[in-house]
Amino acid sequence: MMKIDILSLFPEMFEGFLNTSIIKRAIDAKVVEVNVHDFREFADNKHKKVDDYPYGGGQGMVLMCQPILDCLKTLVTKESLVILMSPQGQTLNQAYSQKLAHEQKHLIIICGHYEGFDERIRDYVDVELSIGDYVLTGGELASMVVCDSVIRLLEGAIRETSHEDDSFSDGLLEYPQYTRPYEYDGSVVPEVLMSGHHENIRKWRLHQSLLKTYRKRPDLLQNREFSEEELKILQE
Ligand code: ADE
Repeated sequence: MMKIDILSLFPEMFEGFLNTSIIKRAIDAKVVEVNVHDFREFADNKHKKVDDYPYGGGQGMVLMCQPILDCLKTLVTKESLVILMSPQGQTLNQAYSQKLAHEQKHLIIICGHYEGFDERIRDYVDVELSIGDYVLTGGELASMVVCDSVIRLLEGAIRETSHEDDSFSDGLLEYPQYTRPYEYDGSVVPEVLMSGHHENIRKWRLHQSLLKTYRKRPDLLQNREFSEEELKILQE
């Protein structure tokens, strides 16, 4: 079972996320255990202050080392990977989510809110993760994005093979999918999918994945090593 500890000043933000759909089911099935810790409780001053003015002056407040690191020290073990959510981090992608899901047993995720961190907090962090080049009001939503993408990959979270077809899992976008009805507003389902010919369907899907990726995300094809079959399709 994977264990995830989240440090946040706003634990209530996680309630909907942890109590809904696949994430709730994964928690109930003991695929993952998630605990959210309010690091304000660790503040050693009587006003439970967690931030202070920046040395050198400037706008805004800075999260202090003490509450976050005292909370962290109660959770960290040799097996932990300590993650700091921040727009300065490496950008999350599917390959990294897979690495976390398959190689880690215990994630500790630190979320800030509104403000920056005292730089010395980074001395206790293994990886700094961003979910994209934009700034959120806090790391909470970003941490939920990380948890969601990792938890769904854990064994027992969803049907074993259903992420093999995910977009990005093989470096390509997912092929087009259809369900009933056969005709909607004059638009019909591609004939090959109605044929029951599994090999033709597999080839069509690979072709469509390549085409979709080329049209929508050509950057994903830049450093790709194409298989023989893919090269053949591209030459058609
Ligand atoms: N905190 C604020 N913005 C963020 C981002 N883009 N990714 C991760 N954490 C953040």
